[in-house]
Amino acid sequence: MRTVTTLAELREAVSTLRRAGPVALVPTMGALHEGHLALMRRAAELAPNVVASIFVNPAQFGPNEDLAKYPRQLAQDKALLEAEGVALLWAPTVDQVYPEGFATSVSVKGVSDGLEGHWRPGHFAGVATVVAKLFNQVQPDFAVFGEKDWQQLAVIRRMARDLDLTLPDVSRIVGLETVRETDGLAMSSRNRYLSAEERAAAAMLPRATRAAIVAIGAGRDVAAALEELERTLLGAGFASVDYATLADAASLEPLTERQPEPMRLLVAARIGGTRLIDNMPVGQSA
Ligand code: PAF
Repeated sequence: MRTVTTLAELREAVSTLRRAGPVALVPTMGALHEGHLALMRRAAELAPNVVASIFVNPAQFGPNEDLAKYPRQLAQDKALLEAEGVALLWAPTVDQVYPEGFATSVSVKGVSDGLEGHWRPGHFAGVATVVAKLFNQVQPDFAVFGEKDWQQLAVIRRMARDLDLTLPDVSRIVGLETVRETDGLAMSSRNRYLSAEERAAAAMLPRATRAAIVAIGAGRDVAAALEELERTLLGAGFASVDYATLADAASLEPLTERQPEPMRLLVAARIGGTRLIDNMPVGQSA
């Protein structure tokens, strides 16, 4: 695997790869775990050349978020990518991505506004801006993202469609089902912040989410099912629940009742100092 850290090297390396066939991009912020490696494997099924990026993007962190303490482990990440057969790692410095005077921001209205967008103002503009840049820099034939960040995936798809970004069409932005620990907790680089006690309690997040989905599927009132989900999390030791929302899977518009179109139940909750998110399909979108 070759690692490049400047745009000039990236362009040269990608054009060499492209001569050998299509390219699939997996953008990451590093601190790789099994969930990321599953993305690499999916990318390898889509294209012979897998390009991974590792960039802890300051633009998507709010002033009180964990940018400074976000885990950075480049040597270990490189070894993991190498073992997956990734061809090229794009690991730019902050000034390569945001040079002096950088003044552009990509904002995706509607789908960015609620849920994470409400709790993390500016987060999705930071994500959309960096992903637009990554798409332009690498010009991949496919890009693979985890469904754990369901709203992020919806924002990226909308942005790519609206801006006619270089991927041939939005179906080339591929979502991969969330990879989970054996107790159901979604894999996340932030899980390492949890104490042993918090980690044990965190398993209630997927469990209670699934229970709410079953209840809604059985015809329980949506608001009542979501309230019970919140109560269960608080009872299990979560400090607060930012949201537990049934939403249209594509627009992320909140729903008070079931609908025939695909739906998603999305949850964000805090345990100790850590904020966890999860989401699952509801009904026919499963
Ligand atoms: O999901 C992530 O790791 C990040 O939000 C992404 C897509 C790499 C953009 O920085």
